[in-house]
Amino acid sequence: MEPDLSLEFLRVVEEAAIACAHTMGQGDRHKADQVAVEAMRKCMDTVPIDGTIVIGEGERDEAPMLFIGEKVGLAAKGGNSKNLPQVDIAVDPLEGTNLCATGAPNAIAVLAASDRGGLLHAPDLYMEKLVVGPSSKGAVSLDASVADNLRAIARCLERDVEDLVVVVLDRPRHEKLIDEIRATGARIRLIGDGDLSAGIAAAVVGSGVHAVMGTGGAPEGVLTAAAMRCLNGEIFARLVVSKPEHEERCRAMGITDFTRVYTSKDLASGQSMIFAATGVTEGSLMKGVRFFGDGVRTSSIVMQSNPARIRFIDTIHVEQTRMVRVRF
Ligand code: FBP
Repeated sequence: MEPDLSLEFLRVVEEAAIACAHTMGQGDRHKADQVAVEAMRKCMDTVPIDGTIVIGEGERDEAPMLFIGEKVGLAAKGGNSKNLPQVDIAVDPLEGTNLCATGAPNAIAVLAASDRGGLLHAPDLYMEKLVVGPSSKGAVSLDASVADNLRAIARCLERDVEDLVVVVLDRPRHEKLIDEIRATGARIRLIGDGDLSAGIAAAVVGSGVHAVMGTGGAPEGVLTAAAMRCLNGEIFARLVVSKPEHEERCRAMGITDFTRVYTSKDLASGQSMIFAATGVTEGSLMKGVRFFGDGVRTSSIVMQSNPARIRFIDTIHVEQTRMVRVRF
């Protein structure tokens, strides 16, 4: 996969973020998601790839656009696919639909891309997750106790357990986990939604997040894995398969070992990985979309694994018919 595609994918997430940011705080999460999907889909077809959606808005019969298996990119628009790179794509046009609908922090538009076959076709189930940064990744395990993992992270970061901040989705299913973290003395940030942007933060030194723990969406887990491949952090993850129906959905995607612990290299195994995200609402790593008289300003992170590059990109999208005044 051509590394320069990263800037093409940047345009895609920027367009999705700008579209849904118009709906911020309107209390309509479905509309927010819909406009992000439409904008992302439209922009995706201008990217010079022969692309296939492997993680998207759902199955073909339940999602009109960006469904699993949908062909995207210039090739899908009738371009000459022979000369275009074959790329698998995982998208979440609006990660944190409720966050956008209420104007809460950390809603993002996001996608990951890899050479063909490089992203796990994960069913839309829950996944147990543990996400940590580069210095702790060799010291923790999904099967270790919460206390052991937090002691290990604290040791790796040369601080006390009481100094750690662990992000957990605020859900009744996490009651026991939260009690266990509290018992260690570590600090907790409960979030309403958005364990993907929390996972990215856990792998960025200085973000103030040292781990993400708990159960969230499997598609978000694959996207987190793609980000970890670029940031040298790690996600440990296990699908939550608790009903025969879950087993069937796993089998349909070729997964037969329901207890397997996946790492980022298993979930996002491609040789070459690109990850792009744009802030929709204000966030810890990216600012939200800002509209002003002359245009729009976006804040994004674009990463690639090969060669490893991490770019924080601030874009001013100028309305062509007007004069812009750029302010730092
Ligand atoms: P949406 O973007 O679909 O609203 O999902 C956000 C999210 O909070 C993810 O970050 C997380 O992995 C998942 O939902 C958790 O699912 P649930 O809300 O069912 O606990």
